[in-house]
Amino acid sequence: MHKLYIGMVGLPARGKTTVAAKILDGLSKEGIRTEIFNNGDIRRERLGVKSSEPEFYCPTNQAGKAAREEIAFTNMNRATEFLQNGGNVAILDATNVSRHRRLAIERMAIYPILWIECINNDEELVDASILRKTKLSEFSKLTEEQACMSFKERIKYYEHIYSPLLDEKMWVMVDSLHNLILNENVPSGIPFYANIRDILVSDWVRNLYLARHGQTEYNVMDRIGGNSSLTELGHKQASCLGEYFKGDEINYVFTSMKRRSQQTAQYVVNHMPNCTVIPLPEFDEIDAGVCENLMYSEIKEQYPEIARDRSYDKYGYVYPEGEGYRTLKDRVDRGLKKALFLSGNAERVLIVGHQAINRMILSHFLFRRQDDVPYILVPQNSLFHIISTQQKKLFELVKFMDADLGN
Ligand code: F6P
Repeated sequence: MHKLYIGMVGLPARGKTTVAAKILDGLSKEGIRTEIFNNGDIRRERLGVKSSEPEFYCPTNQAGKAAREEIAFTNMNRATEFLQNGGNVAILDATNVSRHRRLAIERMAIYPILWIECINNDEELVDASILRKTKLSEFSKLTEEQACMSFKERIKYYEHIYSPLLDEKMWVMVDSLHNLILNENVPSGIPFYANIRDILVSDWVRNLYLARHGQTEYNVMDRIGGNSSLTELGHKQASCLGEYFKGDEINYVFTSMKRRSQQTAQYVVNHMPNCTVIPLPEFDEIDAGVCENLMYSEIKEQYPEIARDRSYDKYGYVYPEGEGYRTLKDRVDRGLKKALFLSGNAERVLIVGHQAINRMILSHFLFRRQDDVPYILVPQNSLFHIISTQQKKLFELVKFMDADLGN
């Protein structure tokens, strides 16, 4: 059976661990024995909190440098042992940003080694990713601000020694936010590479639950937009949503910035102390511009041309001073990319969105005709359960409460 090392490459907070986890997940399900060897795990175990201070990573700190090399070589030896004892793919999860380190590892390799470099220069996302890292126990003694600064200093040190892939024998560069292969230098016949490529470019969704907020005061009045609160029925729907997930821990919940989405999510996270909640403005409901806070009947009376033009082309129509489905696409796509990037390879992720937002997210997975998208049913008593991995595609509407009296 074939053997392969994969060496991850990239500055911290670029999604390397997520990509490694996706590969582990995808290959293991194909019966390919795969394991991850993470340098950070050994570092924390051996050296503790001291090694999370930025100075540890300073290129002139000889002791820090030697300790990190030692860890890298320990993992390389463990990886080789794994491959010699029935393993197929050993993933070295570390920054491996210096050519010196990569060449040293290549010299130790007794099977082919494929370098995968993760690139993400989206500052906002790198910042969000750093913020997430500050929750790690190694930063528990620092405030969030101190931890962010400390991590950014660490990244700066890595930038000093960073050299992109070039002379290595076999490599692929990936945009880890957009799941794109940017460049590759891989000869044909490399084992498992067809699987790995497909994994690299796929949205890897283990369990995505997409729910709409519960009924709001505005929904009852048939008013659009705004920032109203849940009604009694809305609270009931949200509470049933919470009940539905009892016993099945959700790892990440994404909401919009709107009250109705956050109130609904609260019922789910109440029972989940380890769940991370991230509000994203990208998931705010479509901005109806001059029609915000109006009832559909008022729009017909006050702006008959808007009501008419919108019904002729609901997807393409843009509210004056607001948005349309077409112009919403980039914003929602970005929100979804952000959510998938930030949640890593989490087992369960929930998005509590809005009617138009959820239609756009659904269209990402569903391939509906554009004209149909603004009419996709988004009930308030049901959720969509989506799985999209190499082995499984699932798309299911699941009812978590009997009556749906919302609109
Ligand atoms: O009615 C609730 C709502 O979320 C509004 O805030 C929003 O304008 C509307 O749904 C979007 O649905 P449609 O595109 O069908 O008007």
